[in-house]
Amino acid sequence: MKPVRVGICGFGTVGGGTFNVLGRNSKEITRRTGRAIVVEQIAQRRPNINCDTGDTSITDDIFAVANNPNVDVLIELIGGHEPAKELVLTAIRNGKHVVTANKALIAVHGNEIFEAAAKHNVVVAYEAAIAGGIPIVKAMREGLAANSIDWLAGIINGTGNFILTEMRDKGRAFADVLQEAQELGYAEADPTFDVEGIDAAHKLTILSSVAFGIPLQFDQCYTEGISKISAQDVANAESLGFRIKHLGLTRRTSEGIELRVHPTLIPEKRLIANVNGVMNAVLVEGDAVGPTMYYGAGAGAEPTASSVIADLVDIVRDMSLDQTVRMPSLGFSPETMSDSPILPMEKVVTAFYMRMNVSEKPGVLAQITQILGDAGISIEAIRQHTHVSAQVPVIILTRPVVEGHMNSAIAAIEALADVNGEVTRIRVENLGG
Ligand code: HSE
Repeated sequence: MKPVRVGICGFGTVGGGTFNVLGRNSKEITRRTGRAIVVEQIAQRRPNINCDTGDTSITDDIFAVANNPNVDVLIELIGGHEPAKELVLTAIRNGKHVVTANKALIAVHGNEIFEAAAKHNVVVAYEAAIAGGIPIVKAMREGLAANSIDWLAGIINGTGNFILTEMRDKGRAFADVLQEAQELGYAEADPTFDVEGIDAAHKLTILSSVAFGIPLQFDQCYTEGISKISAQDVANAESLGFRIKHLGLTRRTSEGIELRVHPTLIPEKRLIANVNGVMNAVLVEGDAVGPTMYYGAGAGAEPTASSVIADLVDIVRDMSLDQTVRMPSLGFSPETMSDSPILPMEKVVTAFYMRMNVSEKPGVLAQITQILGDAGISIEAIRQHTHVSAQVPVIILTRPVVEGHMNSAIAAIEALADVNGEVTRIRVENLGG
């Protein structure tokens, strides 16, 4: 059978990893596909010093690859919105299948791209866009296809998890760890995407659509980063039996779909609370299977290449079987997509960790607990630290509460004369099955 010819657009960390793994494992991959895969052309801005590209055709024009009649599959690894979107749409219009690792592209423009792919009967595969090497799209779209998925929660940004882990284990400074993550090739070109949760929100948006069969709605995803997490909160969480993780969480409720990324206290005994460093994990609760968890490297050259090539292998198998009926991009037939709304954060129910500095005098705690009681908020635990000055830190853990009620209660607490400064609040999730 004729080899399948691929064009790689973008030859940085993931592009280089993809080229090297394709070369190193070509025999094993061909045993799986029954057909050779050759890299026909590479579009790069500069040579990748980790790759020996030999006599492979090289260009600096990505659209030359999308318009190259000898390319069957275009692998898009340039990232970002434009020109990635136009590149992918050009490849689709030219009848090429596409593999992409571009989460921003899929989260924001996926609805349009998938519609174009269906119209031209080509595949747009995006496993590598979420959680690096973990085959989470495949697991949900195929392995869990029998289930009605109730919720999923994931640590889906390796850089953020690496930073939180190093801060907790080694007491390292935020900026120092971030720089190391950049040097290791984990971080986004703009690392605020990692630390402010945008990268995780892109990935969660895609996961939510694959889980529930809803259109991609990145603009509706609540996004809060880790840049305000203090060493004090990390230590307090530990002492209460929790870990702080940057979590993406999406849940089906009778009122709509929760779609939210934020720092979260998780009981330390949960498996997912012990996912450290650049590792990612996604915990999926299906009604038939119960809880399942998927764990692996969330970033880096070859882990991400592993997902890129897995998608490519699927496409090559489809091509060899002369498949003309394609799996729907999100795993649900387009005409059955759900119109469940995304639930506003004000209506989301979670427990809360609160930290506040109060004056050391009688009756202050009584005023605070009165406000919480009046708002119908039940207290799970309360801790007042030994005072070393006129200011005393008070930590409160609540039972689950509607977020809108918590917002009003916090505003009332902050208005008290003996509560100084802002109340720090972090959501708490039990993540029990
Ligand atoms: N910056 C991303 C991360 C890379 O740290 O997880 C993988 O998407």
